[in-house]
Amino acid sequence: MAEAKSIQAVKGMNDIRPGATEAFLDTAVWQKIFAAAAAVMESFGFRRVWLPVVEPTALFQRGIGTDTDIVAKEMYSFSDRGERSLTLRPEGTAGAVRAYVEHNLARVDPIQRWWYAGPMFRAESPQKGRYRQFYQIGAELLGIADPAADAELLWMLWQLCGRLGLFEVAVRVNSVGDNDSRKAYRAVLRDYLGRHMTELCESCKARLDTNPLRVLDCKRAPCRTVVDGAPDILDAMTPAARQHFDKVLALLQALKVPFERDPRLVRGLDYYTGTTFELTTRALGAQDAILGGGRYDNLVEELGGMPTPAVGFAAGVERLALLVAAAGVPAVGPDLYLVPMAGAEVLAFLLADGIRSDGRYKVEVGAGRLKQQMKHADRTGARFALVLGEDELTSRRGKLKNLRATSVEEVALEPSALLGVLARSP
Ligand code: HAM
Repeated sequence: MAEAKSIQAVKGMNDIRPGATEAFLDTAVWQKIFAAAAAVMESFGFRRVWLPVVEPTALFQRGIGTDTDIVAKEMYSFSDRGERSLTLRPEGTAGAVRAYVEHNLARVDPIQRWWYAGPMFRAESPQKGRYRQFYQIGAELLGIADPAADAELLWMLWQLCGRLGLFEVAVRVNSVGDNDSRKAYRAVLRDYLGRHMTELCESCKARLDTNPLRVLDCKRAPCRTVVDGAPDILDAMTPAARQHFDKVLALLQALKVPFERDPRLVRGLDYYTGTTFELTTRALGAQDAILGGGRYDNLVEELGGMPTPAVGFAAGVERLALLVAAAGVPAVGPDLYLVPMAGAEVLAFLLADGIRSDGRYKVEVGAGRLKQQMKHADRTGARFALVLGEDELTSRRGKLKNLRATSVEEVALEPSALLGVLARSP
């Protein structure tokens, strides 16, 4: 029979798996990141939400903005059987706000600290750090207008970076102002850019009318030169917007979070108002943003809710994983690998249970041929292996093999005796 042709994953979509050849796709790295993020965010009072991966297309059009790259070029949209236009979520904020409004939380308790983690989808051209299915870990703090909320998020993110051993990180902060500031700045900026029209690239020329702030974010060298001389938004800000931003910066300073003000940081989604931020690192090359976020005080109202201030962020898990994996993949093999021969299975299961119930150790029980089991025990990175054959069944003693030190110790086949050895050795 002819061999069936194998099917490959969709381009730009990854398999995260134990022992992955590309270290940043290794389960151990991902679990370390998710555990650290959950621990830090829960310790700040954020509660986990699980929201749909598919939402009505209109949610993203209204929420993120039809002129953005994400909505104009990158969404995976389709019609379902009822001819409704649906989209695989390209980000988590619009869905979180949809849920906040749908469940009337402004009435129940307007202040919600939410965090989420899960896959997002954008049809971008894949490269290192940029995928079509990628994962985000994010948080949304709804209901607090005070600049302390912006600072709290950045402070939390700084703690998370510390937990993950990421210290070569730049914290870039800016503000896109409130509605009045942005309106005033758009006029000043349009005027300035209009005088440099001939130096701008085609897409920036087009943005001049629709969204001149996006020109600040253009990566092309000639546009960057023009942008370097552009007026600063701080000079166009209303006193209230300026005061908010100053307070955020003062809090960061007092908390000793090292940040830099980046007047060019405008972000690629239209819902931002006020503070915007990104954490970047040179270690990632072109896709250097580990995470991004900011304030979006109009979005709840734009999506049909009561006016509600909000601030949030999302981090790219693959990018975090590239950084964490560079420092080494955590060892996650079982502490003990039990190798039962025929007839010793029940003894193996009961011994394993006794050790697991202590709560500190992982025990994997094999099955099948001795040689194959020992090979697998080695591959898992287990600390100890113990063969249970006929002799062991009768004598109730066994030879515990330390796979790292290649030494052997005789032990009684009792959970307490085995626990004693596991606790004693590193
Ligand atoms: P964003 O800047 O579009 O913001 O995405 C946040 C992070 O997701 C990026 O900094 C990056 O690490 C990661 N990311 C984005 N696109 C890709 C991709 N194609 N492949 C791999 N990683 C990617 C948002 O999504 C906002 N919802 C953040 C937010 C939450 N603002 C307020 N609340």
